[in-house]
Amino acid sequence: MKIIRDVHKLQQVCLDLRSQGLKIALVPTMGCFHEGHLSLMRWARQNCDQLIVSLFVNPTQFAPHEDLAAYPRDLERDKDLAQKEGVDILFTPGTEDLYLPGHSTWVEVPDLARNLCGASRPTHFRGVATIVCKLFNLTLPHVAVFGQKDWQQLTIIKRMVRDLNLPIDVVGRPIVREPDGLAMSSRNTYLSLTERKQACFIYKGLLMAQTMVKDTHEQAETIKRALKEFYQKNIPAGRIDYIELVHPEQLTPVSLIDQPTLLAVAIFLGKARLIDNILLRGKG
Ligand code: PAJ
Repeated sequence: MKIIRDVHKLQQVCLDLRSQGLKIALVPTMGCFHEGHLSLMRWARQNCDQLIVSLFVNPTQFAPHEDLAAYPRDLERDKDLAQKEGVDILFTPGTEDLYLPGHSTWVEVPDLARNLCGASRPTHFRGVATIVCKLFNLTLPHVAVFGQKDWQQLTIIKRMVRDLNLPIDVVGRPIVREPDGLAMSSRNTYLSLTERKQACFIYKGLLMAQTMVKDTHEQAETIKRALKEFYQKNIPAGRIDYIELVHPEQLTPVSLIDQPTLLAVAIFLGKARLIDNILLRGKG
């Protein structure tokens, strides 16, 4: 495995790989790898010739009051895990390599960034779209792999790629969970024991909603009300940021669950803000 920090070197190596006709996959990450990250790498390893993983805690997607400084970092462990997954290139740039003085160009997808996580993190997706666009330009991948855990992020990247005519196939992969159902996240390390015990009810609530819509076309408001009650009872240490039912691609609110609908939630729990989602009526 090559570890490359230099932006120009990376771009040159990737140009060479492309000219050899190799199919390049990129998995963008902020490190502190868990099984969710590794599942993306495994898929890319099996479906492409060259696997590039970027590891960069991107400051522009954190608001000033958020957890940029505290975000978990463990480069040595990540190197080992990446090596074991057969990663060809681990790209580990510094902030000053990616954001030059006077950086002032942004990629925005405002229609998809307003609600859900965008409502409480208004500048987050501008930071995400910009860094992902830069990583695409640096690595020139044929395929880029993202997790469905960050459904809004995945949807925004797909729209950016479509709108900017980028020749990249964006692949979304399923959410990897802990045995009790909690979606894996680097931020789960922030949870105390009590909070961690309550956190598993986030997914249990999504499953309850899935059961509610199984045989009937429920109103979104009915689901929201039931889920709010469920979370207040089972996650007393938490504070609900949002519970939303939206069109899976447009991310616009849905009132009757009579077609595939994304149920997405965000909950503040201790120092963490945890997100999860489930596609309701996915096959119906
Ligand atoms: P990060 O949170 O490190 O996540 C990197 C990738 O792993 C994302 O595509 C995310 O959706 C995926 N992922 C995280 N947890 C997952 C899980 N439990 N199951 C499946 N996939 C999971 O997302 C980011 O970094 C950044 O915003 C980034 C795209 C790298 C831009 O800075």
